[in-house]
Amino acid sequence: MSTLPKILVTSAVGKTGQHVTKQLLEKGFPVRAFVRRRDARSDVLARAGAEVFEGDQYSLTDMRRAVTGIQRAYQCAPTAPNGLHFNAVFTAAAHEAAVEHVVTLGQWLSTADHPSLFTREVYLSDLLARMSPKFTVTSVDPGWFADNYLMVLDMAAHLGLFTMPLGPGHEKRNAPPSNRDIASVVVAALSDPDIHAGKHYRPTGPELMSPDDIAAAMGRALGRRVRYINIPEKMMTKALRALPPANYSEAMVSQLAIYADEYRRGTFAVNAPTEDVEKVGGRVPESFETVVQQAVAGRSDLRSTWLRSMGAALNFAKILLTPALNVNKVQLDRDFVQIARPKFSQDAADWRESHLPGHIVEIRENAA
Ligand SMILES: NC(=O)c1ccc[n+]([C@@H]2O[C@H](COP(=O)([O-])OP(=O)(O)OC[C@H]3O[C@@H](n4cnc5c(N)ncnc54)[C@H](OP(=O)(O)O)[C@@H]3O)[C@@H](O)[C@H]2O)c1
Repeated sequence: MSTLPKILVTSAVGKTGQHVTKQLLEKGFPVRAFVRRRDARSDVLARAGAEVFEGDQYSLTDMRRAVTGIQRAYQCAPTAPNGLHFNAVFTAAAHEAAVEHVVTLGQWLSTADHPSLFTREVYLSDLLARMSPKFTVTSVDPGWFADNYLMVLDMAAHLGLFTMPLGPGHEKRNAPPSNRDIASVVVAALSDPDIHAGKHYRPTGPELMSPDDIAAAMGRALGRRVRYINIPEKMMTKALRALPPANYSEAMVSQLAIYADEYRRGTFAVNAPTEDVEKVGGRVPESFETVVQQAVAGRSDLRSTWLRSMGAALNFAKILLTPALNVNKVQLDRDFVQIARPKFSQDAADWRESHLPGHIVEIRENAA
């Protein structure tokens, strides 16, 4: 039996959670993997040695059971509305159970007065978690994931198009982190709280890439030419609603539109790339091309045929016919909390200060 502390991983079959779980198990930590339901994805984690816990992350009763007998935890609120609720449930349960250390997944954009309600909730969640005198906290705040570009991989494979509202193709850049690399930073912080408690990390990929660079990397991995098309925001809202596997709620799409706006403002390029994956995670960060190659390797349906190209063209037509979303109306209709003077990340002095080169934010360490 392992003498290492037992670690809870929430959102354990999600993009980062599955890698956090596997990497912790490889290091010999006992892991409890919190999943919404048992399925093929949780079976993979069980076979790797995780104890699978089935529950609802909105439910305090479930979370109280999940943290029982746990010493450390990775808290990853799902990409969904009510992030503050997810995080409040976790923080209350972790406080009551007096876990010793928590690593939270936050956002690169995190600021107090951000136009995105989801982002303000992430910021507030981080502050609240750090108020508990029972446990220490490390925050991992990545930017726009490499995985996000894979949403349009089918269209790239079958039509040679990479369509997103990211501005002119040669301009705004991002150093997209892979899910595995983000997980490596989380795992380092969970493994050694003495070194990482109180810190904020911002894992990125190895290099800044323009949308044209992203399209070229996709093309190399797919073995065909892929061209970037800068689409209007309205078109993105149509695409996100029209096609699986995205199936995003209207609330979610309204926030993704704000994140695309931040992309066009160049926010994800500020002080990027960072060295956090190498220095904290102990890995050479994966290139975006490697991420696409791995995705392509698992997908025989991406091999282009006449029939699949026709299917992709029909999907494109479906996007065009889907009504666009009025993102402001969505937020008003849902009574999203509004603030009088929202500020994009780069307009907030404390955000700019904390993103200076070489700057690692150290917040007060909570008393154990
Ligand atoms: N994507 C980005 O570019 C980006 C950038 C910065 C920060 N982030 C942050 O990343 C976080 C999400 O991390 P991720 O992408 O690793 O996670 P993810 O892939 O969104 O996974 C979330 C998991 O939570 C599960 N889930 C949803 N609702 C649940 C509930 N009520 N009870 C139990 N389980 C539930 C989902 O289960 P099912 O799979 O069964 O539905 C899913 O597996 C968000 O907080 C977001 O702010 C994302």
